[in-house]
Amino acid sequence: MFAVQAEGAQIETIEGLTESGELAALQEAFYRNNALQCGFCTPGMLIAAADLLKHNPKPSREEIRAGLSGNYCRCTGYHAIVDAIAEACGSTEEEAE
Ligand code: FES
Repeated sequence: MFAVQAEGAQIETIEGLTESGELAALQEAFYRNNALQCGFCTPGMLIAAADLLKHNPKPSREEIRAGLSGNYCRCTGYHAIVDAIAEACGSTEEEAE
């Protein structure tokens, strides 16, 4: 979104969520699943994942993919990112082939 569209809204940043400890489980899962390469998209992926899990604590893999759809990763192919988020929320659903 454009910055002007956020006028009057409360904005949470990756730094704010990191300091509160809200991202610790997600960050660990990203680390364990090699869910980042260059790291350019990672703050946005973590924020999107945290927001998704706030509203849907046990999303399916399809819901995780939909929740990340506003974020673009040039490096990972998304599979490891979805694995990390699924692990962080305790989902045991397997990816459909
Ligand atoms: S890890 Fe490089 S853009 Fe996502």
